[in-house]
Amino acid sequence: MAISISTVDLFCGAGGLTYGFEQAGLPVKAGYDIDPACKFPYEHNNKAKFLLQDVQNVSGLDLAEHFSGSSVKVLAGCAPCQPFSSYSRRYNDRQSKWKLLQDFARLIEECEPDIISMENVLQLKLHSVF
Ligand SMILES: C[S@@+](CC[C@H](N)C(=O)[O-])C[C@H]1O[C@@H](n2cnc3c(N)ncnc32)[C@H](O)[C@@H]1O
Repeated sequence: MAISISTVDLFCGAGGLTYGFEQAGLPVKAGYDIDPACKFPYEHNNKAKFLLQDVQNVSGLDLAEHFSGSSVKVLAGCAPCQPFSSYSRRYNDRQSKWKLLQDFARLIEECEPDIISMENVLQLKLHSVF
């Protein structure tokens, strides 16, 4: 039986990670980001569709559409690292600091991917998330 893989890239930016996935043989169906400037480079350099949407408003059902018919679901989420970076002191509010990572966790629970990919700064290891 042939294996069909689908990947969704949350916080996809201009598409660096998506490009790497595609080069590695993991087809990417869609990338989500709130920065409209990312749409052109994302779609010009990748086969995936760019969706201009706040991840906080994305649901597991939205993601299920991209994964439909795939035997392996890959969910990638490279949330902004500024809240945890040693270079930033702007995020003192605990709620806003964790919100986007909590949304990534919520979407993992809602769509139950087979593979999860997350990249962030080393400082994240110093915190307990939930
Ligand atoms: C670290 S960058 C991701 C880089 C990307 N993975 C790449 O390979 O180029 C984080 C991205 O999160 C996006 N972002 C921030 N808040 C967001 C939100 N609420 N919903 C969707 N995207 C968001 C930013 O616009 C930024 O492009």
